[in-house]
Formats: sequence, structure tokens, C-alpha cells
Amino acid sequence: MKILIIGSGGREYALAKKISKSPLADKIYTAPGNYGMRDFGETVDIKATDYDRLIDFAKDKKIDLTIVGPENPLSDGIVDKFEENGLKIFGVNKANARFEASKDFTKKFLNKYDIPTAKSETFTDYESAKDYLKDITYPIVLKADGLCFGKGVFIAKDYDNAINYLDQIFDDLNSKKIVIEEYLDGRELSSICLVSHNKIFPLEYARDFKKIFDGDKGENTGGVGSVTPVDDISDSNLEKIRMIHKKIEEGFIKEDIDYTGVLFIGLMITDKPYVLEFNVRFGDPEIEVILEKMESDLLSLIIKTMDGSLKKEDIVFDDKSYLGVVLCSSGYPQAYEKNKEITINKSDLEVIHCATKYEDGKILTNGGRVMMVIAGDTTKQKAREKVYKDIGSIQFEGIYYRKDIK
Ligand code: AMP
Ligand code: GLY
Repeated sequence: MKILIIGSGGREYALAKKISKSPLADKIYTAPGNYGMRDFGETVDIKATDYDRLIDFAKDKKIDLTIVGPENPLSDGIVDKFEENGLKIFGVNKANARFEASKDFTKKFLNKYDIPTAKSETFTDYESAKDYLKDITYPIVLKADGLCFGKGVFIAKDYDNAINYLDQIFDDLNSKKIVIEEYLDGRELSSICLVSHNKIFPLEYARDFKKIFDGDKGENTGGVGSVTPVDDISDSNLEKIRMIHKKIEEGFIKEDIDYTGVLFIGLMITDKPYVLEFNVRFGDPEIEVILEKMESDLLSLIIKTMDGSLKKEDIVFDDKSYLGVVLCSSGYPQAYEKNKEITINKSDLEVIHCATKYEDGKILTNGGRVMMVIAGDTTKQKAREKVYKDIGSIQFEGIYYRKDIK
């Protein structure tokens, strides 16, 4: 089969790497891809949101299946557009992408189907949101409705802090709606699932480390480290998460939708698991460690997800622990510099490329999350030691990474 993978980050690198091992894959294209992804096929210089050119390319090359990495194309309806052109594509359609694109839409779904989630209120005008913020307990979480390139969620420690962000939401982010919700203090967990015509197939649980600094301090990022499996969930909480999966399936059916693609359920476990959010794509950097652990052929799982023949037994993982640390450009998630030369002094080191490019014979940094180092071993501790040892052989100006991923 000829496969086209859309996107250019660590997630898409991991997808390309895994799919390149499938006996079903003859040729892989990535658009736009990144430097490292050339190891698995051809990178094509077309943006992930240039839908007309992507469709022309898929027709011209007779692509058998396109797989979408990031949320923006999904939410713009890339799946609907490809299907209208008779092209096979894996991902949710535009209507179902609202589960990520609109916090308010998802909150309504969660409350309607009695799925535990933080208590919240939605506002469409600035003044009433401001009034509401006067008489509540802090911290509080403010969420802009709509995709905001990872800048849509803010945890405000007091009223002034909250008003500051409210101004930003209504001005800079140009959002017309805000969800204000109770702050939940616990441990996060990512339940990433394949969903085949409303039936949920959870992959191995993973955890990502969102804060930029050690000790979970500093700003939220897209995620700067990840582990799988997660060893601190009690049996009773696991059972509650399975109930959440069931309620989501029932909700999909009752809403009369056909959900096929990826569902990423972001959970916070306090006294019990609560759903923080839905995303409609694989979590990044969670999927990178999950795919290292996966023994099954991902391409075959995706095909079965689409045609409805997927079974629980098809999804097999090994029994090792995997841990990954993201190497960032200093300054991320705020402003950072690009185009720093990367050197790796270990010939057999396999790294995930998240944002790299190649110019004049040099590998250069090309984003905030640059590379990710992953290792697997019989224990998480051993995997961790390997990762931090390997990181020592990578250098670029301004390299920054957390030292406490575990
Ligand atoms: P979201 O965009 O909804 O995924 O939120 C991004 C991140 O913000 C989550 O992964 C959490 O770290 C944090 N977050 C979101 N909602 C809450 C909440 N109610 N309480 C505490 N942290 C939250
Ligand atoms: N790592 C969280 C996300 O992909 O949104």
C-alpha cells in the first residue's frame, strides 16, 4: 500500500516509523514531514492545511490510505474533503472534530451522559465572565473555545490573573466563548483510543509531563516527557475509566453520530477519574512511547478500525516500560530561537525528530520541541537511566529538557 502521513512533528515521525515496519506498507510519503522522517520514505513539500494540493498529490500518486496527525486539518474537514474525492483517509470527520475544537461542545456531551468532569460555566460575553470571576475560589481554569495552538487553557491563581487572561481570550485569541471550570488537583492520565464506528478500543495508558520545569513547575506546554504504562492507577479507578469508555460509546450512539478515528481522553485522577478534555488525534508525546511498546501492526489496526473488523485481541503490547524526554529550544513554550546546529555523538542513537531540518550539510533545530529520546526496558528506572545517558550525546545551543521525567 502507498501511505500518506500528514503532519511534521514527533507524533508523525513515530507514526511513520511504526508504519514503515508494516508488511502492508510499500511506500510512505509524509507531508510536509521533517528531516528525520526521510528515513521512512519521501517527504513532500505540501503544508498540512493545503487541502487542494494534498488531494491532487494523493490522486496523482494513487495513495491507498492517508493518515492525519494534527488536529487543525481534522477540524477543517480534511477527512470530508478527501472522502468527497473518493480518497481513503483515517481520522475523524469535521463534525466529530468538534470534540476537540469546542470545549463547550464536549462539556455539554460529558454532562449530558453523566461522565465525571470538572464543574464549569460557559460565557459568551466579557462582562458576565468578569462578574462570575469576582465571587469564586481560586485557582480556576479558563478555557477558550476553539483551537488555540495549545494556548487555549490557563490556570489562574487569583482574580487579577484571571482577568488578564480573559482580556487575552477576547482580544488576541479572538475567541467568542469561554469555559470557566473548577481546578482539579491530581495526576493526569492519557487514555488514547482507536474508535471504530463508535466502539472504543483503548491503547496502553500513558502519562505526559505538561509543565516546562522540573517538579511540574512553570507553564503548560504541549508535553515535554512521557511514560507508558502508568503504574499508579488503582484497580477501582481502572474500572471507573472503563465505565467512562462505555458511557462515551453510549453517548455517541444516542447522539446518532458515527465516530471513527482517534479519541484521546485527557483524565485527571483525584478522588476518582475526571475527564478534562477530548482530543481527536493521537497525543504527542504520548503516542511516541505507546508505539514503541506496541507489538501489533499499527497499519493493520487502522485498516480494521476503518472497516469495523477490529477486535480487542488485535491490539498487543510488550511487557516493557518506555520513557521519553523531549529536548526543547530554551525559551519554549514562549519565544525561542531556531536554526541551531544539532550534533549527535553516538552513531547508533535512534531519536524521534520533532522539529528538525537539514541545510548545507547540517541538521538544524526548527521548533520548540526539537527531538525526543526514548528507551524501553524491563523497569521504568532502567529505561530512564538509558534515556538520560543517551541525551548526553546530543548537543545544540540552548538545549533544555526536564531532568525529572519518571
Ligand atoms: P486541555 O486543553 O483541556 O487539554 O487542557 C490542557 C491542560 O490543562 C491539561 O492537560 C491539564 O494539565 C490542564 N487542565 C485542564 N483542565 C484542568 C482542570 N479542570 N484542572 C486542572 N488542570 C486542568
Ligand atoms: N500531550 C498532550 C497533547 O497531545 O495534547
